[in-house]
Amino acid sequence: MRCFGSPYGQTRGLRVAQAETRAHTAPDHHGTAAAGTEPPIWDLVGETPLLPLESPRAGSVRHAILLKAEWLNPGGSVKDRPAREILRAGIAAGVLPRRRVLDASSGNTAVAYAMLGAAAGVGVTVCVPSNASPERMALLAAYGAEVIETDPLEGSDGAIRQARQMAAEFPDRFWYADQYGNPANPEAHYRTTGPEIWRDTDGQVTHLVAGVGTSGTLMGAGRFLREQKPDIRLIAVEPDAPFHGLEGLKHMATAIVPPIYDVALVDETVFMGTERADATVRALAWEAGLLVGWSTGAAVAAAQYLIQRAVPDMRHRMRVVVIAPDGGQRYLSERRRLIAEGG
Ligand SMILES: Cc1ncc(COP(=O)(O)O)c(C=O)c1O
Repeated sequence: MRCFGSPYGQTRGLRVAQAETRAHTAPDHHGTAAAGTEPPIWDLVGETPLLPLESPRAGSVRHAILLKAEWLNPGGSVKDRPAREILRAGIAAGVLPRRRVLDASSGNTAVAYAMLGAAAGVGVTVCVPSNASPERMALLAAYGAEVIETDPLEGSDGAIRQARQMAAEFPDRFWYADQYGNPANPEAHYRTTGPEIWRDTDGQVTHLVAGVGTSGTLMGAGRFLREQKPDIRLIAVEPDAPFHGLEGLKHMATAIVPPIYDVALVDETVFMGTERADATVRALAWEAGLLVGWSTGAAVAAAQYLIQRAVPDMRHRMRVVVIAPDGGQRYLSERRRLIAEGG
């Protein structure tokens, strides 16, 4: 484990000084968090557009794939939604901002906590595998979050173990938000992502395809959509191997399965290889002008597979909503993966 930025326990003076500075510049946020008024930037979370995708690889089907552009959230990813819901719950329970919010994250949730927490005067400490993209690490530092780097070989499970240990050791200092087990995570998607998809497809959605990390997106949005349309197909996307390059996704068979993951809700899991996801990311950038993250590439490739596999009659009725959790700007340091062979 390695710390950078502001190691917990070592820079208390600095942290307090930062908090006081913030209190001077944004007194309302500190004063109103507990009173129920939210910082304006929290209002920008959600209401992301659905982009019809006409990639040649999807065959001749027009608008069969609808991409839910979650990178347009103010923190740059889908995780703004659960982070806001979780922080709301902590503030409502009176534990925030008195304590620091603590969680494990592969990066995007950490950035979401850091941004939303800074706006609300809530201190943020996150355990992040040290191989999270440098772009995310830089963002965390920029928002003033405290980052505990964990063993990259242990992936998100190592970060979870570290967060649990710190929460047990310092119960007065930290409030362990536990995005993998916190019902506020799927609840955020049940209340926002699912209804937005239902409304924006006029109820025509036939499939929801989402990569699973905590599984909050698929569980929450999926449960809402299933209630509206019992025959909707809910498709999970997982990496096809324990070691993979699909940041944000979990290979459930070899990982700590998130307590919120109810596999009974899922109709099918598509296992996707890193190389195929990378090729799809490149195709989306070159052919559609959409620069997306690896987990989006995996989910779009899974949707294309489902469409190609379907009988023609069915194919024409398919409206496949694919969650695009983040954008490719967050991975520009992995230039070689973004540039096509010979490019
Ligand atoms: C890039 C990316 N894709 C997919 C996911 C999975 O989303 P969920 O945790 O809702 O399953 C995450 C989660 O952190 C993510 O960061």
